[in-house]
Amino acid sequence: MPVITFANTKGGAGKTTAALILATELARHGARVTILDADPQHWISHWHDISGKIPNVDVISYVTMASIQGHINENKAKTDYFIIDLAGARNTLMATAIGLSDHVMIPIQGCAMDAKGGAQVLELLGYLKEKAGVDIPHSVVLTRVNSLVTTRALQVVKQLLAQRAVHVLETPIIERSAFRDIFDCGGTLQTMDPHRVSNLDKACENARAFGDEVRKLLPVRLYAGMRRAA
Ligand SMILES: Nc1ncnc2c1ncn2[C@@H]1O[C@H](COP(=O)(O)OP(=O)(O)OP(=O)(O)O)[C@@H](O)[C@H]1O
Ligand SMILES: [Mg+2]
Repeated sequence: MPVITFANTKGGAGKTTAALILATELARHGARVTILDADPQHWISHWHDISGKIPNVDVISYVTMASIQGHINENKAKTDYFIIDLAGARNTLMATAIGLSDHVMIPIQGCAMDAKGGAQVLELLGYLKEKAGVDIPHSVVLTRVNSLVTTRALQVVKQLLAQRAVHVLETPIIERSAFRDIFDCGGTLQTMDPHRVSNLDKACENARAFGDEVRKLLPVRLYAGMRRAA
């Protein structure tokens, strides 16, 4: 069961949003997902509280550095994917979560400040590889991308990542009101009211493409029995 961590030391990069979209998509395809909510704002825990039972989705709130490994060990038998949502900060919990991850997703908005927060995560991954010989696969996921125009800032970020040979997911997460409203409504994109949420169909299509790409990148069967010992 792959452990996927969303990390960017900059606040507001889109970690929580991307983590929830991915979790609900994986669950919709029948995978059992456990979300470890390590974001001090607890948006996903709140979403879970107001959603009622969402099939295949479990949320663990109040994850700390001391408890994170235990949460993974205790739930691995009933989990196909762990998704860790981190705070927008550079701290020891981030380093611990990254060390436990099979894949680190780095959400980056097409603006310079954001790229800097992402670069700090990339630096840490580089450090772990160089000093500890631990090579953790990772990808950048571009977030809050405008559906109509490619901004100059976004192009600059893409060029920078290409120069550094960083893997970037083909599917960017588009700026959609559905991805905001889901935190207020609860439930999933599929249970939202298309008459009240603009472009809900496009948001669903975007989420599906994102989920499909991650499922292809990290198939559960590849990780069966491979979880590193505690
Ligand atoms: N694809 C999107 N479409 C529309 N709004 C978005 C999208 N992604 C993020 N947002 C909005 O941007 C803001 C920040 O997003 P989010 O909370 O996901 O970032 P974060 O990286 O988890 O932040 P933090 O570091 O504070 O935990 C939120 O108001 C969220 O609703
Ligand atoms: Mg967050």
